[in-house]
Amino acid sequence: MRTQVAIIGGGPSGLLLSQILHLKGIQSVVLERKSRNYVLGRIRAGVLEQGLVDMLHVVKVGKRMEKEGQIHHGFDIAFQGKRHQIDLTALTNGKSVMVYGQTEVTRDLYEARDQMNGVVIDEVDDVSLHKLDTATPFVTYKKAGENFRLDCDFVAGCDGFHGVSRGSIPSHILKEYEKVYPFGWLGVLSETPPVSHELIYNQSDKGFALCSMRNANLSRYYVQCSLEEDVNNWSDDRFWEELKSRLPKETAETLITGPSIEKSIAPLRSFVAEPLSYGRLFLAGDAAHIVPPTGAKGLNLAASDIHYLSEAFIEFYGTGRETKLSQYSDTALKRIWKAMRFSWWMTMLLHHFPENEGFGDRMQQTDLEYLFSSKAAQTSLAENYVGLPY
Ligand code: FAD
Ligand code: PHB
Repeated sequence: MRTQVAIIGGGPSGLLLSQILHLKGIQSVVLERKSRNYVLGRIRAGVLEQGLVDMLHVVKVGKRMEKEGQIHHGFDIAFQGKRHQIDLTALTNGKSVMVYGQTEVTRDLYEARDQMNGVVIDEVDDVSLHKLDTATPFVTYKKAGENFRLDCDFVAGCDGFHGVSRGSIPSHILKEYEKVYPFGWLGVLSETPPVSHELIYNQSDKGFALCSMRNANLSRYYVQCSLEEDVNNWSDDRFWEELKSRLPKETAETLITGPSIEKSIAPLRSFVAEPLSYGRLFLAGDAAHIVPPTGAKGLNLAASDIHYLSEAFIEFYGTGRETKLSQYSDTALKRIWKAMRFSWWMTMLLHHFPENEGFGDRMQQTDLEYLFSSKAAQTSLAENYVGLPY
């Protein structure tokens, strides 16, 4: 088989890229390791920046989001029992974010790909990339025990943090930057009304907690937990008690609890691989970088990578020029590092760091007090949260 762009990974990055390319008359094949049901069962991001919302409209997958997504004009930060509102819209001259689950975005993208007869091959094994530093790269894989070869002009590595693409860049070329945080997030999804109409990020002595949502009857809550925790030791009752103990009293009193429909633990890390390209291979999304979820940036960063990468492919197939392809890594990394800084800062601001006792705790407290007292500090937070320009 032959295509123009072989896309490894059928998560949001890979599907969005294949959809954009299709609309510009560029062929692609998506190779995904898991089954579609598995991919659609993953509960992940919930907050979309305007840039991603606009992209989804442009590529004709925004209809359901328009109907079912919720526009949020702000969020709260709770500290020492008090909630402080961050008015995103007032602080950013009218900008906002969209609450619409990554699961729904992925479902909409799969539907669009099916309608346009896009080729997404799932349940592939042993994906391997070859001759990336030549003009004739190719990909080999297995499906149902049979071996296949996919020839292409380019390979887009959209296969997430644990994929094969990043590792196909020789180690003397690839540089990795990483910070692992000494905790994770225990998340619960429940069919209950959200405790508040906006998100609440809670800093408390017992650790961070987040109150988020998917819709009027679907809530998403997280509590910071130790990396040693086993999700099986967390009954629903234990989770709700722990969450309540980290919320302001009045908020905890109005929390409606119910059975969880999903419960999982995610570790927190910051990670960047440089460069994002090697020969004919281009990395995008979690394959190249990971942010801690505190700033809600992971999915949004994947989308901005895809914006730059698709523009580069469109330039190449339209004009034969490789200018944007050669600049892709530098261009995307500028925005990636800014999102890294923001996610790291929000993580440091809101979590309990056992090693911080004393000076570190006072710095965190002062950072929060400064934020609540300074419009300039809030403007910086809001500008980053709604998303820096592409
Ligand atoms: P992925 O979604 O990881 O997709 C990669 C795909 O490649 C997967 O389907 C995988 O099965 C496939 N794959 C892997 N290896 C191979 C292989 N060898 N061959 C073929 N296919 C392969 N981001 C936000 O913006 N806002 C949020 O609010 C937010 N909250 C989050 C909360 C949690 C709990 C978590 C875990 C993440 C959150 N994120 C958030 C991050 C966001 O989910 C990711 O950044 C996003 O999924 C990245 O998309 P991707 O397509 O690059 O990677
Ligand atoms: C979520 O709803 O899953 C979510 C929202 C905001 C974040 C992280 C996760 O910062």
